[in-house]
Amino acid sequence: MTITTCIFDAYGTLFDVAAAARTAAAEPGRAAFAAHWPKIAQNWRLKQLQYTWLRAVMDRHTDFWQVTQDGLDWALEAEGLDGDAELRERLLQLYWELEAFAEVPAMLRTLKDAGLNTAILSNGSPDMLDGAVKSAALDGLLDDVLSVEDVGIFKPAEVVYDMVGNRFGCTRTEVLFVSSNGWDVAAATGYGFRTAWVNRASEPVDRLPARPGHIFNDLTGIPALAGV
Ligand code: LAC
Repeated sequence: MTITTCIFDAYGTLFDVAAAARTAAAEPGRAAFAAHWPKIAQNWRLKQLQYTWLRAVMDRHTDFWQVTQDGLDWALEAEGLDGDAELRERLLQLYWELEAFAEVPAMLRTLKDAGLNTAILSNGSPDMLDGAVKSAALDGLLDDVLSVEDVGIFKPAEVVYDMVGNRFGCTRTEVLFVSSNGWDVAAATGYGFRTAWVNRASEPVDRLPARPGHIFNDLTGIPALAGV
């Protein structure tokens, strides 16, 4: 069946989540942070995601902004930098204006010009996603930005993936779902979407019940996969 709808994860897929820590590390007066930033960025992301999964299992939902702050606090304390309130505020501010990966605008433009539906489906809260989409100037290239806040549970709960068919009136096999998160792609494949895993770091495939339909190093191959 023809692909009518391309759905993208946001953080790590369209937006470079390491950009916040990388940018802050390059600013003057941040020698201590510059020495630790890759580890802090890695732990920040890891804890942020762990907290989403754990809160879903515990039925203790909060929004993505809260788990983003909680993950950062853990990561800063682990490296002994939890006393730097100004650094914390700066990193959180930068999370609202993450860079999109370089190939994103042209890739989305190609899909839109071909008449496909394009949207984000993300754990992000609507205001965070709005900030990121606007600062990366992607607003004209997306038909919608779907947030899990509308269903009150994080990915990979099935009810999150249901939001796509509810919004676009498409069947599961008409959807190409694209994510840099192996666990998100595994869940989406199991759900019945066609899928692409953007594996920028050449990581192993997650050992979960379903495997990615396709694997790419970046997003440039998405239009061809969608039949454009
Ligand atoms: C998102 C996270 C999982 O955007 O990357 O949903």
